[in-house]
Amino acid sequence: MTTRLDATTTTTAAPAPAGTEPTGWLTVCPVDRLQPGRGAAALVGDTQVALFRLADGSVYALGNIDPFTGAAVVSRGIVGDRGGEPTVASPLYKQVFALRDGRCLDGADGDAVSLPAFAVRVMGDALQVGLR
Ligand code: FES
Repeated sequence: MTTRLDATTTTTAAPAPAGTEPTGWLTVCPVDRLQPGRGAAALVGDTQVALFRLADGSVYALGNIDPFTGAAVVSRGIVGDRGGEPTVASPLYKQVFALRDGRCLDGADGDAVSLPAFAVRVMGDALQVGLR
């Protein structure tokens, strides 16, 4: 079952891509709402975001829509690790994506599919997604 987080405030802005400078931050929930090693889904503007917190306290935000099926399931994926790279495996066809940048790591077939990765941070006890 997916935890669905309700942002404390809503926004019409879209989430900012990871690695860019957000124009602002949306507090999604207290970071404690995220169970380590489990994903949760939140709506940021019109974008479904899959949020993850790892046991080491790091947080990641990816698009929640599985690019192979169009289903909103990434937050229900299995969190893992591939050679030190934190990952999530889609619950449907099990493609593995890097949590840091959304790259599909099962791309031996040469098709470069990836999930969008979004700016995310913990401020105090608040989990925040960057806005663009
Ligand atoms: S299976 Fe991931 S890019 Fe093709």
